[in-house]
Amino acid sequence: MEMELKDIGNTPLLELATLSVNGNRVFSKCEYLNPSGSHKDRTYLNIINKLEKAGVLKPGMTLIDCSTGNGGAALAWIGRLKGYGVKIFMPEGMTEERKTQIRTYGADIVETPKESFLTGAVLQAKAYLSENSSEEFYYLDQSNSLLNKDSWRCCGKEIVKQLSAQNIVPDFFVCSIGTGGTFSGIAEVLKQTYSGIKTIALEVSNSAPLFAQRNNLAFNHRSHNLMGLGAGVLSANTDSGLVDEIRVIDDVDAWARMKHFIASEKIPIGPTCGANLLMCDEIVQAHKCKSIVTLFFDSSWKYASRWDGFYPEYSEVRHVAGRNL
Ligand SMILES: Cc1ncc(COP(=O)(O)O)c(C=O)c1O
Repeated sequence: MEMELKDIGNTPLLELATLSVNGNRVFSKCEYLNPSGSHKDRTYLNIINKLEKAGVLKPGMTLIDCSTGNGGAALAWIGRLKGYGVKIFMPEGMTEERKTQIRTYGADIVETPKESFLTGAVLQAKAYLSENSSEEFYYLDQSNSLLNKDSWRCCGKEIVKQLSAQNIVPDFFVCSIGTGGTFSGIAEVLKQTYSGIKTIALEVSNSAPLFAQRNNLAFNHRSHNLMGLGAGVLSANTDSGLVDEIRVIDDVDAWARMKHFIASEKIPIGPTCGANLLMCDEIVQAHKCKSIVTLFFDSSWKYASRWDGFYPEYSEVRHVAGRNL
C-alpha cells in the first residue's frame, strides 16, 4: 500500500524488556517506522507545512538541504508528494542505500568533498543558491531553521499521551543529537509536563561541540561512523538550556551495541540507536525503579552496504572501525 503524508508520526512507544532490569523500565519511540524509514519525516513535513502557510514556498520550487541521508530521503519523499523538486547536498561516502533511496524518490544528489564533511556541503549549497534564482530555489536549512525543533513538540506530546495511558511518569529522557532538533523539541514538552525529569543529550565523542563547550575544552571535529550525529558545528536547534547533562558516546561502541540489540531483540535498529541504548544501559545499572524514555531514529537496512561500520572515505575512522565489530 502506498504511504501518504498522514502516515507520518503516531509511532509506537515500545517497552524494551531486556533493558528493564532493577525494576527500571525503558521505553523507545519507534521513529524508524515513519514512511521514509526515519525520524526526519516529521522534521521536513513540519518545516514545509509551516513555510507553505507563511506563503514562502511556491508550487514547483526546488527545495534544497544538506544531509547525510535520512533528512535527504525524508525531504525527497515529501517533496515528491507535494510537487516540489528536491536537491540534496551530501558529503561523499554515505551509504549506497541512502543515496539510492533519495534518487528513487526523484531527487538530485550533489556529493560534496569528504574532507570538509557537512560543513563543506553547507558551503556548496549556499554557493549554488547564490548562483541561482531565489524565485526557483529555497534552502530549508535543517541545521539553523528553528522549525526543525518545532517539529518535535508534537512527538513529545505523543510520548506524554502514551506514558499517561500507562500511568508512567518518566525520570529520564535520553537522546543523541545531530542538529538537536529531535532532542530539543521533545525535551521541551517533557520538561513542561514532568518537573522532575532529567534530560541527557548524547554526542559522538569524535565531534562533540556541546560537550566541549560545557567542559571548557577546545572543539575539534574528527571523522566518525555515526552518520547523523557530529556534523562539526553546534546547531541552533540544540537548545542547551534543555540539556541537563551532556555525555559522549564512542562510535564503535554504539555500532557494537546496535548489533547486540538486533541479535537479542530482533528489532533492526540503526547505529545511532545503539548510542541511545548505551546510555540507557548505564542508567539501569546505576538506578532502581526509574522510567527512561529514548528514541529509535532509523533502521539497519540503511547501512547494509557498510555493515562493518567502515567508511573508507573517512580515514580517521579506519583504525577504529576494525574494533569489536
Ligand atoms: C541516524 C540519525 N540519528 C540521529 C540523528 C539526529 O537527529 P537530529 O538532527 O534531530 O538531532 C540523525 C540526524 O540526521 C540521524 O540521521
